[in-house]
Formats: sequence, structure tokens, C-alpha cells
Amino acid sequence: MKKIAILTNGGDAPGLNAVIRAIVKTAETNGIECYGFIEGYKGLLKNEYVRLDTKTNASGLLHRGGTIIGTSNNTNVFNYKIEKENGDVEYKDLSDQCVQNIKDDGFDCLFTLGGDGTQKSSRDFSLKGLKCIGIPKTIDNDVAHTEMTFGYNTAVSVATEAVDRLHTTAESHHRVMVLEVMGRYAGWIALESAIAGGADIVLIPEIPYDINKVVEKIEQRRKEGKSFSIVVASEGAKPKDGDIVIKRTLDSGSGLDNIRLGGIGDKLVNDIEALTGYEARNTVLGYVQRGGTPTAFDRVLSTQYGAKAVELAMNGIFNVLVTYKGGEFGYVTLEDVVGNNKKVGAASGNTAESNIRKITMDHSLIKTAKNIGICLGE
Ligand code: F6P
Repeated sequence: MKKIAILTNGGDAPGLNAVIRAIVKTAETNGIECYGFIEGYKGLLKNEYVRLDTKTNASGLLHRGGTIIGTSNNTNVFNYKIEKENGDVEYKDLSDQCVQNIKDDGFDCLFTLGGDGTQKSSRDFSLKGLKCIGIPKTIDNDVAHTEMTFGYNTAVSVATEAVDRLHTTAESHHRVMVLEVMGRYAGWIALESAIAGGADIVLIPEIPYDINKVVEKIEQRRKEGKSFSIVVASEGAKPKDGDIVIKRTLDSGSGLDNIRLGGIGDKLVNDIEALTGYEARNTVLGYVQRGGTPTAFDRVLSTQYGAKAVELAMNGIFNVLVTYKGGEFGYVTLEDVVGNNKKVGAASGNTAESNIRKITMDHSLIKTAKNIGICLGE
């Protein structure tokens, strides 16, 4: 291996720069040149990339949030959105152009840092003959086959601090405070920050909630002399008899990541006020969960992911996702990550076929939450 390329794709996450740094450092240690495509798959399509090395741009990065090579969130080069001059929109498969770019410039391996949508495209490229290695990034922690994505621990820390801060104001005003956190289809951030911050109720996409159970918990606390309650809700939480709350649908539902969630916190506040008569307030935590410096844990995790990825490539192991399980780093095939979503070019992360890792009801976090009396809305 002489020359490798990295791209960061999808929503950003703390630790992206730390992974880039680790890949570059490990590559340099082994005499391999490193490049970074600008803005994810978009840069791959336009063949825009920069040299990455520790003398110029790839050092001093450990603590920096975001990604120095940029990212794009809505780019599926297998079904690329083209806006015509007359305003019409068409979708084209431009993946062959990307494959050609990689071949022309002699990249021996493409490292794809991203969530399930990114890894889906990575697998599709591997079927077209590229050598790809995926590294699982997302604050939502929902990539299949890995126990911990980088960025997640930082998001949980930010959400936990928010729960702590809500406690004191909730108590002072005798209010029910709702915190809406990220997590479209998996409730990892909500569940862990609720446990870490001592919330009373946590509502996650995996367990459609019964609002009467939420109210029961709030009333029970009142009877016990606790005049306030804290609710943490994933943006993808939904009532038993209802659906997820969508803020905006983009591109009439076509393309990747076409649904913007948001609003469950406001809905909960309205319902709780109507049913209890107590004052309630909502806080939407939003993008502060994704921005800023990674925790020490995420810096180490990211560094290990990056170094392991290069190690796999040097051992000739391609078309895999680097995984973290039981404290060990390993890999699974990108084919396994894609799961049932086999169709080449199809979007993932936003479809019924996507293979994201949800919280199972036998997970220890669910058991712990129940044991200590956190209400899960059931
Ligand atoms: O990274 C995943 C995520 O944080 C989701 O929880 C959220 O719905 C989404 O990103 C929003 O990202 P964007 O607004 O950048 O599409």
C-alpha cells in the first residue's frame, strides 16, 4: 500500500478529526501517503482532495470538533440529485465516475468515516471493485455490529450536563422539564444521559410510550414530595397510538436523510400540562450534542479506530467495517452492516430496510433503568 484516501460523510460527530489524525499518523509510520476527499462523497465525485500529513494539516487535531476535510449530508452518488436550469430535478447514478477517480489517481484504499448511510455507499463501492474500509461514526450510536461509535460518548456527556442543569431550575420552579435529544431510530443518547443525569422518565423510539404512564410517574413523585420531574425524550420517540414528530420533509421524501425530526418535546409538554395541570417546559438540545471537543474517551476510541483501520488495510483486509465489541477492535464485512438493505444505491438510515442498531429490551441499560425506577413510558 502506497496511497490511501479518507472521506468523512453524513452529519459530523466529535472525534472525526481524531480518527483522521490517527489514520495519517499510522500511515506515515508505515510509509503510506494519505489524502482526504473534500466534503465526503461529494468530493469523491468531483475528485477534490487534499494531501494530509502531520507536518501541515493533520496535527493538533485531537481536541478539535467537526472535520477538517468537511462532510456532506445528503449525497448519494448512486442516486445523485441534479437540479436542472428549468427547476426540474432528476436523480442519476454517478458512482462510476467516483470509481474512475479512485482508479485514475491510484488510491489503494478508501476509508469511509460515517454512519449507516455512508457505510451503505461504501459497500456499494466495494461491489464495484473499490477497496473500502468503514469506520463507524455517529452520535446516535446506531451503526450495526459495533457497540460504540465515536462521537456518542461526547453526545451523552453534553446531554448529561443538560439534565444536571435542568434539575436545579426544575426544582426551583416545581416544573416538569422535558429534554429533547438526538436519536432518530435508536434511543441510546436519551437512555444513557437519563441514567447518568438521574432523570425520572425516558422515552425512546424502541418503546412507543403511553402518556398515562408518564403522568402516573409525575403524580407518584408529587405524592412523595418531589414537586418536579425530568423527562428525557429521543427526537424519534413516539406515542403508542401515534407517530414520530416530523418537522420538515425534504425533496418530497426522496434521497437520503429526507426527514427532519423535531417537536416531540413540545408535544410532551402540551400533553403533560393538559393532563396534570402542572407547569412544563421543553428544551431542545440540538446540535450542541454534535459540535465541539470530544471527550477523552472519544479521543482514545477514535484514535484506536483509525489505527486499527490502517492495520487492517496493511493486512489486506478490505470491504469491512472496523468494530468495537467487548473492549476489542475487530471487523465485520460491509455486506453484514448493510443487512437486509441489499439493493445497490438505495438510501439507508431512513428506510424500513436500514440495518441500524436499536436498543433491545434485554439490554443491561434497559434493565438498570427499570431497576432504579426510571419510567420508560410503558
Ligand atoms: O447524526 C445523526 C443525527 O444527529 C440525528 O440524530 C439527527 O436527526 C440528524 O443527525 C440531524 O442532522 P442534520 O440536520 O445534519 O441532517
